[in-house]
Amino acid sequence: MQGKFTKDKNIYRKSFLIVFGILLAIALIGSLITARNLPKGLSQIAKKHNLKIGTAVSSWQLDDPQFASVLIRNFNLITPENEMKFELLSPAPGEYDFSGADKIIAFAKKHGISVRGHTLVWTNQLPKWLVNGNFSRDELIIILHNHIDTVVSHYRGQVSYWDVVNESLAPDGSISQDNFWMQHIGPEYIELAFRWAHEADPNALLFYNEANAEGKGLKADGLFMLANMLITQGIPLHGIGFEMHTGLGWSPKPDELAINIQRLADLGLEIHITEMDVRIIEPASLEDLYEQAKIYAEIVQTCLDATNCTAYSTWGLTDTLSWIPHIYPGTGSPLLFYGDYTPKPAYYAIQKVLEIK
Ligand code: G3I
Repeated sequence: MQGKFTKDKNIYRKSFLIVFGILLAIALIGSLITARNLPKGLSQIAKKHNLKIGTAVSSWQLDDPQFASVLIRNFNLITPENEMKFELLSPAPGEYDFSGADKIIAFAKKHGISVRGHTLVWTNQLPKWLVNGNFSRDELIIILHNHIDTVVSHYRGQVSYWDVVNESLAPDGSISQDNFWMQHIGPEYIELAFRWAHEADPNALLFYNEANAEGKGLKADGLFMLANMLITQGIPLHGIGFEMHTGLGWSPKPDELAINIQRLADLGLEIHITEMDVRIIEPASLEDLYEQAKIYAEIVQTCLDATNCTAYSTWGLTDTLSWIPHIYPGTGSPLLFYGDYTPKPAYYAIQKVLEIK
């Protein structure tokens, strides 16, 4: 009786294992077939052009599995939207809280995604202790040096590109006077920042990032002159970031963008499109969305046509996560995905450009 019971138990266990094995194999084959049939994400398609496709993220967004899966499928470059800025990193003099930015770096590492560090020197989002500290020029030079050294060293080998200096130019192309660092240190804050960043991580590529200087105009000329001056002086500047915040009816003309990219290429500089979005007056019609798609496609095409344009990033993943409606009420719908992560016409327009060439 005992023997029969043990035998039955063994047969039962064996059958269970066989059925389990078959089910597991079916599931594996199924998932392989599904993965094969999924259309390629943007970054996969762009690989043949040696173009990285990026977006801005906040650490809390990575907790959403849908956000994470759309991100991993389509992007191989991420920029922390805020969490590497001075205000968010340093709550008190000499104190650093890297938790948010570290989470983004860990995610990037896990999924083979490169990181653009943003940003070491900017006049916005500075800590209150710094702005209200009544520090002398010499003290501020030490504070800025320590900040750059601390942050770049913390991420040495993990951040491929740094936006070292952000938005230092006035609309007329001169170095902006309306800038904390300019007012307290003077224009040399720019070259000092690049030198210090390079000392802290000699392998990181160092970018100067600017808004509204992509096409033709005084600011674009000022940017070119600044880049030329830094290069001539032997400052370690490796690339220019064109933010590319645009809107329907006011985006840079592709031929003017191409000329601007070319003259910077002649200086030996790489170009990254760093923060693209195309805002629309709400409610956005289908016609507006197609017009938006055309602008996105034109900029990607111009970037592809230039050999030195190596990265193309949007400033956020979905329309609902964008900064635009908060700062420009009444406008919105600026990105490649609707709030529910469905791709918009702009997504397909970029996909088409990347596939054709
Ligand atoms: O961190 C504070 C938090 O402590 C506070 O409780 C909360 C209350 O509103 O605000 C939080 O700060 C917000 C911050 O983002 C971090 O989330 C600010 O209000 C908000 O104004 C700030 O906006 C950011 C903006 O830079 C600041 O200038 C946007 O998210 C960010 O997209 C935007 O990004 C810039 C690029 O860095 C440079 N180029 C232009 C681009 C668009 O402005």
